[in-house]
Amino acid sequence: MNDRRPPGERTLDPDDWDEFRDLAHRMVDDTLAHLATLRERPAWRPMPDAVRASFGGPVPLEGEGAGAAYREFVERVLPYPSGNLHPRFWGWVQGTGTPLAALAEMLAAALNPHLAGFNQAPALVEHQVLGWLAELMGMPGASGVLVGGGSMANLLGLAVGRHARAGFDVREEGLQGGRPRLMLYGSVETHGWAKKAAEVLGLGNESFRRIPVDADYRIDTAALRTAVKDDRNAGRRPFCVIGTAGTVNTGAIDDLSSLASFCRSEDLWFHVDGAFGALARLPESLRPLVSGLEQADSLAFDLHKWMYLPFEAACVLVRDKAAHRDAFSVSASYLAETTRGVVAGGLPFAERGIDLTRSFRALKVWMSLKAHGVNAFARLIEQNVEQARHLAALVETHPDLELLAPVPLNVVCFRYAPSGLPEQRRNAVNEEILLRIQEEGVAVPSGTVLAGRYAIRVANVNHRSRREDFDLLVSAVARIGAEVAGAGPGF
Ligand SMILES: Cc1ncc(COP(=O)(O)O)c(C=O)c1O
Repeated sequence: MNDRRPPGERTLDPDDWDEFRDLAHRMVDDTLAHLATLRERPAWRPMPDAVRASFGGPVPLEGEGAGAAYREFVERVLPYPSGNLHPRFWGWVQGTGTPLAALAEMLAAALNPHLAGFNQAPALVEHQVLGWLAELMGMPGASGVLVGGGSMANLLGLAVGRHARAGFDVREEGLQGGRPRLMLYGSVETHGWAKKAAEVLGLGNESFRRIPVDADYRIDTAALRTAVKDDRNAGRRPFCVIGTAGTVNTGAIDDLSSLASFCRSEDLWFHVDGAFGALARLPESLRPLVSGLEQADSLAFDLHKWMYLPFEAACVLVRDKAAHRDAFSVSASYLAETTRGVVAGGLPFAERGIDLTRSFRALKVWMSLKAHGVNAFARLIEQNVEQARHLAALVETHPDLELLAPVPLNVVCFRYAPSGLPEQRRNAVNEEILLRIQEEGVAVPSGTVLAGRYAIRVANVNHRSRREDFDLLVSAVARIGAEVAGAGPGF
Protein backbone atom coordinates (compact mmCIF):
# COMPACT_ATOMS: atom_id res chain seq x y z
CA MET A 1 0.00 0.00 0.00
CA ASN A 2 1.85 3.06 -1.21
CA ASP A 3 0.75 6.65 -1.20
CA ARG A 4 1.00 8.38 -4.62
CA ARG A 5 2.40 11.73 -3.71
CA PRO A 6 3.24 14.44 -6.21
CA PRO A 7 7.01 14.46 -6.79
CA GLY A 8 8.86 16.93 -4.56
CA GLU A 9 6.18 17.01 -1.84
CA ARG A 10 7.35 15.48 1.39
CA THR A 11 5.92 13.91 4.56
CA LEU A 12 7.10 11.85 7.52
CA ASP A 13 4.59 9.10 6.79
CA PRO A 14 6.27 5.94 5.47
CA ASP A 15 6.93 5.65 1.74
CA ASP A 16 6.04 2.00 1.97
CA TRP A 17 3.29 1.24 4.48
CA ASP A 18 3.66 -2.54 4.11
CA GLU A 19 7.32 -2.40 5.01
CA PHE A 20 6.54 -0.10 7.94
CA ARG A 21 3.80 -2.47 9.13
CA ASP A 22 6.30 -5.35 9.23
CA LEU A 23 8.64 -3.24 11.32
CA ALA A 24 5.79 -2.15 13.61
CA HIS A 25 4.74 -5.76 14.17
CA ARG A 26 8.32 -6.66 14.98
CA MET A 27 8.48 -3.83 17.53
CA VAL A 28 5.33 -5.09 19.24
CA ASP A 29 6.51 -8.73 19.18
CA ASP A 30 9.94 -7.84 20.57
CA THR A 31 8.40 -5.65 23.27
CA LEU A 32 6.05 -8.36 24.43
CA ALA A 33 8.87 -10.92 24.41
CA HIS A 34 10.92 -8.54 26.57
CA LEU A 35 8.05 -8.07 29.04
CA ALA A 36 7.32 -11.80 29.21
CA THR A 37 10.91 -12.67 30.18
CA LEU A 38 11.80 -9.96 32.71
CA ARG A 39 12.39 -12.43 35.52
CA GLU A 40 15.11 -14.20 33.50
CA ARG A 41 17.29 -11.10 33.40
CA PRO A 42 19.28 -9.38 36.15
CA ALA A 43 17.41 -6.60 37.96
CA TRP A 44 20.06 -4.19 36.68
CA ARG A 45 23.32 -4.41 34.81
CA PRO A 46 26.05 -1.84 34.36
CA MET A 47 26.47 -0.41 30.87
CA PRO A 48 29.71 -1.25 29.04
CA ASP A 49 31.95 1.76 28.40
CA ALA A 50 31.65 1.34 24.63
CA VAL A 51 27.86 1.55 24.81
CA ARG A 52 28.03 4.61 27.06
CA ALA A 53 30.49 6.29 24.68
CA SER A 54 28.26 5.53 21.69
CA PHE A 55 25.77 8.15 22.85
CA GLY A 56 28.24 10.91 22.09
CA GLY A 57 27.71 11.06 18.30
CA PRO A 58 26.67 14.16 16.36
CA VAL A 59 23.09 14.99 15.33
CA PRO A 60 22.21 12.97 12.20
CA LEU A 61 21.65 15.28 9.25
CA GLU A 62 20.43 12.52 6.96
CA GLY A 63 18.26 9.72 8.36
CA GLU A 64 19.34 6.09 8.52
CA GLY A 65 15.76 4.80 8.23
CA ALA A 66 13.28 3.47 10.78
CA GLY A 67 14.65 -0.09 10.70
CA ALA A 68 18.19 1.03 11.50
CA ALA A 69 17.05 3.41 14.24
CA TYR A 70 15.03 0.58 15.81
CA ARG A 71 18.07 -1.75 15.65
CA GLU A 72 20.10 0.80 17.57
CA PHE A 73 17.37 0.98 20.21
CA VAL A 74 17.41 -2.81 20.57
CA GLU A 75 21.19 -2.97 20.85
CA ARG A 76 22.04 0.09 22.92
CA VAL A 77 18.95 1.20 24.86
CA LEU A 78 16.71 -1.78 25.59
CA PRO A 79 19.35 -3.79 27.52
CA TYR A 80 20.33 -0.97 29.88
CA PRO A 81 17.34 0.46 31.78
CA SER A 82 17.43 1.25 35.51
CA GLY A 83 15.45 -1.95 35.98
CA ASN A 84 12.09 -0.76 37.21
CA LEU A 85 10.14 -3.35 35.23
CA HIS A 86 11.92 -6.16 37.07
CA PRO A 87 10.12 -8.19 39.75
CA ARG A 88 12.83 -7.30 42.28
CA PHE A 89 12.99 -3.55 41.68
CA TRP A 90 11.92 -1.67 44.80
CA GLY A 91 14.03 1.47 44.62
CA TRP A 92 12.79 5.02 45.26
CA VAL A 93 9.06 4.84 44.33
CA GLN A 94 9.06 3.81 40.69
CA GLY A 95 6.13 2.07 39.11
CA THR A 96 6.53 -0.99 36.94
CA GLY A 97 4.21 -0.25 34.01
CA THR A 98 1.82 -2.76 32.45
CA PRO A 99 1.71 -4.33 28.97
CA LEU A 100 -1.83 -3.12 28.31
CA ALA A 101 -1.08 0.46 29.32
CA ALA A 102 2.06 0.44 27.15
CA LEU A 103 -0.13 -0.39 24.16
CA ALA A 104 -2.63 2.27 25.25
CA GLU A 105 0.27 4.75 25.16
CA MET A 106 0.95 3.71 21.59
CA LEU A 107 -2.71 4.24 20.68
CA ALA A 108 -2.73 7.63 22.43
CA ALA A 109 0.41 8.73 20.59
CA ALA A 110 -0.92 7.51 17.25
CA LEU A 111 -4.23 9.34 17.71
CA ASN A 112 -2.25 12.29 19.08
CA PRO A 113 -5.16 14.41 20.32
CA HIS A 114 -4.52 17.81 21.90
CA LEU A 115 -5.95 17.52 25.39
CA ALA A 116 -6.47 21.15 26.34
CA GLY A 117 -10.09 20.09 25.82
CA PHE A 118 -11.92 20.46 22.48
CA ASN A 119 -15.08 18.81 21.24
CA GLN A 120 -13.65 15.30 20.95
CA ALA A 121 -14.05 11.86 22.50
CA PRO A 122 -10.57 11.91 24.11
CA ALA A 123 -11.70 14.88 26.26
CA LEU A 124 -14.70 12.87 27.44
CA VAL A 125 -12.34 10.02 28.32
CA GLU A 126 -10.34 12.37 30.57
CA HIS A 127 -13.52 13.82 32.12
CA GLN A 128 -14.70 10.29 32.87
CA VAL A 129 -11.35 9.21 34.32
CA LEU A 130 -11.25 12.29 36.57
CA GLY A 131 -14.80 11.59 37.73
CA TRP A 132 -13.85 7.99 38.58
CA LEU A 133 -10.69 9.02 40.41
CA ALA A 134 -12.53 11.67 42.43
CA GLU A 135 -15.09 9.06 43.46
CA LEU A 136 -12.40 6.52 44.38
CA MET A 137 -10.67 9.13 46.54
CA GLY A 138 -13.90 9.98 48.36
CA MET A 139 -14.08 13.42 46.75
CA PRO A 140 -16.99 13.01 44.30
CA GLY A 141 -17.63 16.11 42.22
CA ALA A 142 -14.12 17.49 42.76
CA SER A 143 -12.37 19.25 39.91
CA GLY A 144 -9.23 17.57 38.65
CA VAL A 145 -6.62 17.28 35.98
CA LEU A 146 -4.07 14.69 34.94
CA VAL A 147 -0.46 15.85 34.91
CA GLY A 148 2.99 14.35 34.44
CA GLY A 149 3.89 13.49 38.02
CA GLY A 150 3.39 13.92 41.72
CA SER A 151 5.65 16.95 41.89
CA MET A 152 3.51 18.83 39.38
CA ALA A 153 0.23 17.61 40.90
CA ASN A 154 1.34 18.79 44.33
CA LEU A 155 2.58 22.12 42.96
CA LEU A 156 -0.80 22.75 41.33
CA GLY A 157 -2.65 21.93 44.57
CA LEU A 158 -0.50 24.41 46.44
CA ALA A 159 -0.93 27.05 43.74
CA VAL A 160 -4.72 26.81 44.12
CA GLY A 161 -4.35 26.99 47.90
CA ARG A 162 -2.11 30.06 47.63
CA HIS A 163 -4.64 31.82 45.44
CA ALA A 164 -7.62 30.80 47.58
CA ARG A 165 -6.10 31.66 50.98
CA ALA A 166 -3.68 34.53 50.30
CA GLY A 167 -6.33 37.08 51.27
CA PHE A 168 -5.68 39.18 48.16
CA ASP A 169 -5.49 38.62 44.41
CA VAL A 170 -2.16 36.89 44.30
CA ARG A 171 -2.34 36.28 40.55
CA GLU A 172 -2.73 39.96 39.86
CA GLU A 173 -0.51 41.45 42.54
CA GLY A 174 2.11 38.73 43.06
CA LEU A 175 4.00 38.38 46.31
CA GLN A 176 6.27 41.37 45.98
CA GLY A 177 4.18 43.90 47.91
CA GLY A 178 4.66 44.71 51.60
CA ARG A 179 2.17 42.11 52.79
CA PRO A 180 2.45 39.63 55.64
CA ARG A 181 4.55 36.61 54.66
CA LEU A 182 2.42 33.62 53.57
CA MET A 183 3.42 30.52 55.58
CA LEU A 184 3.28 26.86 54.59
CA TYR A 185 3.58 23.85 56.92
CA GLY A 186 4.48 20.21 56.48
CA SER A 187 6.51 17.66 58.37
CA VAL A 188 10.27 17.24 58.05
CA GLU A 189 9.43 14.04 56.16
CA THR A 190 7.58 15.93 53.40
CA HIS A 191 8.98 15.00 49.99
CA GLY A 192 11.38 17.40 48.25
CA TRP A 193 8.70 18.62 45.82
CA ALA A 194 7.47 20.99 48.56
CA LYS A 195 10.75 22.90 48.69
CA LYS A 196 10.66 23.38 44.93
CA ALA A 197 7.01 24.40 45.08
CA ALA A 198 7.62 26.96 47.83
CA GLU A 199 10.40 28.42 45.71
CA VAL A 200 8.54 28.37 42.38
CA LEU A 201 5.38 29.85 43.91
CA GLY A 202 7.40 32.80 45.16
CA LEU A 203 6.78 31.93 48.82
CA GLY A 204 10.45 31.27 49.38
CA ASN A 205 11.91 28.27 51.12
CA GLU A 206 11.99 30.18 54.42
CA SER A 207 8.19 30.28 54.37
CA PHE A 208 8.00 26.48 54.47
CA ARG A 209 8.01 25.43 58.13
CA ARG A 210 9.28 21.88 58.62
CA ILE A 211 7.43 20.47 61.61
CA PRO A 212 9.08 17.65 63.60
CA VAL A 213 7.73 14.09 63.50
CA ASP A 214 6.95 11.57 66.23
CA ALA A 215 8.61 8.15 66.64
CA ASP A 216 6.45 6.82 63.79
CA TYR A 217 7.61 9.60 61.40
CA ARG A 218 4.16 11.28 61.50
CA ILE A 219 3.80 15.03 61.82
CA ASP A 220 3.75 16.25 65.43
CA THR A 221 0.37 17.99 65.45
CA ALA A 222 1.05 19.79 68.75
CA ALA A 223 4.23 21.30 67.27
CA LEU A 224 2.22 22.29 64.20
CA ARG A 225 -0.35 24.15 66.31
CA THR A 226 2.40 26.01 68.13
CA ALA A 227 4.17 26.97 64.89
CA VAL A 228 0.95 28.34 63.35
CA LYS A 229 0.15 30.29 66.51
CA ASP A 230 3.66 31.71 66.76
CA ASP A 231 3.59 32.80 63.12
CA ARG A 232 0.25 34.54 63.56
CA ASN A 233 1.53 36.30 66.68
CA ALA A 234 4.55 37.46 64.71
CA GLY A 235 2.29 38.99 62.02
CA ARG A 236 2.82 36.30 59.40
CA ARG A 237 -0.06 34.70 57.50
CA PRO A 238 -0.33 30.89 57.66
CA PHE A 239 -2.21 29.68 54.59
CA CYS A 240 -1.64 25.95 54.03
CA VAL A 241 -0.80 22.68 55.73
CA ILE A 242 0.56 19.71 53.79
CA GLY A 243 -0.36 16.29 55.14
CA THR A 244 1.41 13.28 53.68
CA ALA A 245 -0.29 9.94 53.07
CA GLY A 246 2.74 7.69 52.68
CA THR A 247 6.04 9.48 53.22
CA VAL A 248 8.79 8.67 50.78
CA ASN A 249 11.23 7.49 53.47
CA THR A 250 9.09 5.11 55.51
CA GLY A 251 5.50 5.18 54.19
CA ALA A 252 4.31 7.03 57.31
CA ILE A 253 0.81 8.46 57.18
CA ASP A 254 0.12 11.72 58.97
CA ASP A 255 -3.00 11.96 61.12
CA LEU A 256 -5.04 13.34 58.23
CA SER A 257 -8.35 13.64 60.09
CA SER A 258 -6.81 15.72 62.80
CA LEU A 259 -4.98 17.89 60.24
CA ALA A 260 -8.27 18.38 58.36
CA SER A 261 -10.11 19.61 61.43
CA PHE A 262 -7.18 21.83 62.47
CA CYS A 263 -7.16 23.41 59.00
CA ARG A 264 -10.91 23.98 59.11
CA SER A 265 -10.72 25.65 62.49
CA GLU A 266 -7.80 27.87 61.40
CA ASP A 267 -9.13 28.60 57.88
CA LEU A 268 -6.06 27.00 56.32
CA TRP A 269 -5.89 25.18 52.97
CA PHE A 270 -5.44 21.45 53.58
CA HIS A 271 -3.32 19.82 50.89
CA VAL A 272 -2.60 16.09 50.95
CA ASP A 273 0.39 14.58 49.19
CA GLY A 274 -0.78 11.03 48.56
CA ALA A 275 1.75 10.33 45.80
CA PHE A 276 1.54 6.60 46.39
CA GLY A 277 -0.24 6.29 49.76
CA ALA A 278 -3.54 7.71 48.49
CA LEU A 279 -4.01 4.49 46.52
CA ALA A 280 -4.29 2.64 49.84
CA ARG A 281 -7.90 3.88 49.70
CA LEU A 282 -8.69 1.27 47.04
CA PRO A 283 -8.66 -1.89 49.18
CA GLU A 284 -11.25 -1.71 51.94
CA SER A 285 -8.83 -3.38 54.34
CA LEU A 286 -6.33 -0.48 54.05
CA ARG A 287 -8.74 2.44 53.68
CA PRO A 288 -8.85 3.29 57.41
CA LEU A 289 -5.09 3.94 57.30
CA VAL A 290 -5.59 6.99 55.09
CA SER A 291 -8.82 8.15 56.61
CA GLY A 292 -9.17 11.95 56.48
CA LEU A 293 -7.56 12.16 53.04
CA GLU A 294 -11.02 12.65 51.56
CA GLN A 295 -11.34 15.90 53.52
CA ALA A 296 -8.47 17.53 51.66
CA ASP A 297 -9.00 20.82 49.84
CA SER A 298 -6.54 19.47 47.29
CA LEU A 299 -5.11 15.99 46.88
CA ALA A 300 -2.21 14.91 44.68
CA PHE A 301 -1.44 11.30 43.75
CA ASP A 302 0.36 9.36 41.08
CA LEU A 303 -1.00 6.71 38.80
CA HIS A 304 2.52 5.81 37.70
CA LYS A 305 3.45 4.64 41.19
CA TRP A 306 0.90 2.50 43.00
CA MET A 307 -1.46 2.08 40.08
CA TYR A 308 1.44 0.57 38.15
CA LEU A 309 0.80 2.59 34.97
CA PRO A 310 3.66 3.66 32.73
CA PHE A 311 5.19 7.11 33.19
CA GLU A 312 3.83 9.68 33.22
CA ALA A 313 0.49 10.00 34.96
CA ALA A 314 -0.54 11.81 38.12
CA CYS A 315 -3.68 13.57 39.25
CA VAL A 316 -4.59 16.58 41.32
CA LEU A 317 -8.11 16.89 42.70
CA VAL A 318 -9.48 20.17 44.06
CA ARG A 319 -12.66 20.11 46.10
CA ASP A 320 -13.75 23.65 45.16
CA LYS A 321 -14.19 23.74 41.37
CA ALA A 322 -14.34 27.52 41.20
CA ALA A 323 -11.14 27.89 43.23
CA HIS A 324 -9.39 25.51 40.85
CA ARG A 325 -10.46 27.43 37.76
CA ASP A 326 -9.79 30.83 39.36
CA ALA A 327 -6.17 29.84 40.00
CA PHE A 328 -5.35 29.12 36.35
CA SER A 329 -7.97 30.36 33.90
CA VAL A 330 -6.91 32.67 31.11
CA SER A 331 -8.88 34.16 28.28
CA ALA A 332 -7.50 34.80 24.84
CA SER A 333 -9.32 35.43 21.61
CA TYR A 334 -7.32 32.72 19.84
CA LEU A 335 -8.54 30.17 22.43
CA ALA A 336 -12.16 31.34 22.70
CA GLU A 337 -14.86 28.74 23.12
CA THR A 338 -17.59 28.49 20.47
CA THR A 339 -21.06 26.99 20.77
CA ARG A 340 -20.50 24.61 17.85
CA GLY A 341 -17.59 23.04 16.02
CA VAL A 342 -14.25 21.75 17.27
CA VAL A 343 -13.79 24.06 20.25
CA ALA A 344 -17.33 23.73 21.63
CA GLY A 345 -16.90 22.79 25.31
CA GLY A 346 -13.81 24.96 25.52
CA LEU A 347 -10.40 24.07 26.88
CA PRO A 348 -11.21 23.06 30.47
CA PHE A 349 -8.00 21.12 31.13
CA ALA A 350 -5.83 24.08 30.16
CA GLU A 351 -7.69 26.07 32.85
CA ARG A 352 -6.82 23.63 35.63
CA GLY A 353 -3.05 23.79 35.42
CA ILE A 354 -0.11 25.26 33.60
CA ASP A 355 0.05 23.16 30.45
CA LEU A 356 -1.89 24.16 27.36
CA THR A 357 -0.80 21.34 25.07
CA ARG A 358 -1.40 18.08 26.91
CA SER A 359 -1.10 14.46 25.84
CA PHE A 360 -3.79 11.78 25.98
CA ARG A 361 -2.47 10.17 29.18
CA ALA A 362 -6.07 9.58 30.23
CA LEU A 363 -6.37 6.74 27.71
CA LYS A 364 -4.05 4.34 29.56
CA VAL A 365 -5.93 5.03 32.80
CA TRP A 366 -9.32 4.55 31.16
CA MET A 367 -8.39 1.36 29.33
CA SER A 368 -6.64 -0.11 32.38
CA LEU A 369 -9.60 0.55 34.66
CA LYS A 370 -11.97 -0.91 32.08
CA ALA A 371 -9.80 -3.95 31.34
CA HIS A 372 -8.67 -4.85 34.84
CA GLY A 373 -11.30 -3.20 37.08
CA VAL A 374 -10.65 -1.32 40.32
CA ASN A 375 -10.72 -4.52 42.35
CA ALA A 376 -7.69 -5.93 40.56
CA PHE A 377 -5.69 -2.84 41.55
CA ALA A 378 -7.04 -3.02 45.11
CA ARG A 379 -5.92 -6.65 45.41
CA LEU A 380 -2.45 -5.87 44.07
CA ILE A 381 -2.03 -2.99 46.51
CA GLU A 382 -3.07 -5.31 49.33
CA GLN A 383 -0.60 -7.90 48.02
CA ASN A 384 2.23 -5.32 48.08
CA VAL A 385 1.43 -4.43 51.70
CA GLU A 386 1.33 -8.11 52.69
CA GLN A 387 4.69 -8.61 50.99
CA ALA A 388 6.13 -5.63 52.89
CA ARG A 389 4.87 -7.13 56.15
CA HIS A 390 6.40 -10.47 55.16
CA LEU A 391 9.75 -8.77 54.54
CA ALA A 392 9.52 -6.89 57.86
CA ALA A 393 8.85 -10.19 59.64
CA LEU A 394 11.84 -11.83 57.93
CA VAL A 395 14.04 -8.93 59.03
CA GLU A 396 12.76 -9.01 62.59
CA THR A 397 13.39 -12.73 63.00
CA HIS A 398 16.84 -12.65 61.38
CA PRO A 399 19.62 -12.45 63.98
CA ASP A 400 21.80 -10.14 61.84
CA LEU A 401 19.17 -7.75 60.50
CA GLU A 402 17.42 -4.82 62.11
CA LEU A 403 14.22 -3.01 61.15
CA LEU A 404 14.80 0.75 61.25
CA ALA A 405 11.24 2.10 61.06
CA PRO A 406 7.66 0.91 61.49
CA VAL A 407 6.04 -0.53 58.35
CA PRO A 408 2.56 0.99 58.13
CA LEU A 409 2.25 0.49 54.37
CA ASN A 410 4.60 -0.80 51.66
CA VAL A 411 8.00 0.65 52.62
CA VAL A 412 10.54 -1.35 54.62
CA CYS A 413 13.77 0.21 55.93
CA PHE A 414 16.30 -2.15 57.45
CA ARG A 415 20.00 -2.80 57.82
CA TYR A 416 22.60 -5.47 58.36
CA ALA A 417 23.57 -5.09 61.99
CA PRO A 418 25.11 -8.21 63.54
CA SER A 419 26.11 -7.76 67.16
CA GLY A 420 29.83 -7.94 66.31
CA LEU A 421 29.71 -5.04 63.83
CA PRO A 422 30.52 -1.73 65.56
CA GLU A 423 27.96 1.06 65.13
CA GLN A 424 30.51 3.37 63.46
CA ARG A 425 31.03 0.84 60.62
CA ARG A 426 27.39 0.03 60.02
CA ASN A 427 26.54 2.90 57.67
CA ALA A 428 29.45 2.21 55.33
CA VAL A 429 28.82 -1.55 55.37
CA ASN A 430 25.14 -1.16 54.54
CA GLU A 431 25.77 1.30 51.73
CA GLU A 432 28.26 -1.19 50.26
CA ILE A 433 25.74 -4.04 50.62
CA LEU A 434 23.16 -1.99 48.74
CA LEU A 435 25.55 -1.22 45.89
CA ARG A 436 26.65 -4.84 45.56
CA ILE A 437 23.06 -6.08 45.52
CA GLN A 438 22.35 -3.69 42.67
CA GLU A 439 25.59 -4.45 40.80
CA GLU A 440 25.14 -8.23 41.10
CA GLY A 441 21.69 -7.71 39.56
CA VAL A 442 19.98 -9.46 42.49
CA ALA A 443 17.53 -6.66 43.21
CA VAL A 444 17.24 -2.88 43.27
CA PRO A 445 16.32 -1.44 46.65
CA SER A 446 17.48 2.14 47.28
CA GLY A 447 19.01 3.75 50.35
CA THR A 448 18.12 6.43 52.86
CA VAL A 449 19.29 7.68 56.24
CA LEU A 450 16.98 7.51 59.26
CA ALA A 451 18.09 9.16 62.49
CA GLY A 452 21.68 8.99 61.27
CA ARG A 453 21.47 5.30 60.37
CA TYR A 454 21.91 4.14 56.79
CA ALA A 455 18.94 2.04 55.70
CA ILE A 456 18.40 -0.36 52.82
CA ARG A 457 14.98 0.79 51.68
CA VAL A 458 12.38 -1.30 49.86
CA ALA A 459 9.37 0.58 48.46
CA ASN A 460 7.06 -2.02 47.00
CA VAL A 461 4.85 -0.70 44.19
CA ASN A 462 5.65 -3.71 42.03
CA HIS A 463 2.86 -5.87 40.64
CA ARG A 464 5.41 -8.48 39.49
CA SER A 465 7.00 -9.21 42.88
CA ARG A 466 6.39 -12.51 44.64
CA ARG A 467 6.96 -13.45 48.25
CA GLU A 468 9.98 -15.54 47.23
CA ASP A 469 11.63 -12.38 45.86
CA PHE A 470 11.77 -10.94 49.37
CA ASP A 471 13.18 -14.21 50.75
CA LEU A 472 15.90 -13.95 48.13
CA LEU A 473 16.64 -10.33 49.05
CA VAL A 474 17.03 -11.17 52.73
CA SER A 475 19.41 -14.04 52.07
CA ALA A 476 21.44 -11.87 49.66
CA VAL A 477 21.73 -9.05 52.24
CA ALA A 478 22.89 -11.50 54.89
CA ARG A 479 25.38 -13.19 52.51
CA ILE A 480 26.85 -9.96 51.13
CA GLY A 481 26.76 -8.38 54.60
CA ALA A 482 28.96 -11.19 55.96
CA GLU A 483 31.36 -10.76 53.02
CA VAL A 484 31.61 -6.98 53.41
CA ALA A 485 31.79 -6.91 57.20
CA GLY A 486 34.21 -9.85 57.22
CA ALA A 487 36.62 -8.03 54.91
CA GLY A 488 37.22 -5.40 57.61
CA PRO A 489 37.27 -1.59 57.27
CA GLY A 490 37.80 -0.54 53.65
CA PHE A 491 36.19 -3.86 52.63
C1 LIG B 1 5.53 11.12 48.88
C2 LIG B 1 5.96 11.60 47.51
N1 LIG B 1 5.52 12.79 47.06
C3 LIG B 1 5.86 13.27 45.85
C4 LIG B 1 6.69 12.55 45.02
C5 LIG B 1 7.06 13.11 43.68
O1 LIG B 1 6.34 12.44 42.69
P1 LIG B 1 6.88 12.39 41.16
O2 LIG B 1 8.18 11.63 41.23
O3 LIG B 1 5.82 11.65 40.44
O4 LIG B 1 7.06 13.80 40.72
C6 LIG B 1 7.18 11.31 45.45
C7 LIG B 1 8.09 10.52 44.59
O5 LIG B 1 8.56 9.48 44.96
C8 LIG B 1 6.79 10.81 46.71
O6 LIG B 1 7.22 9.63 47.16
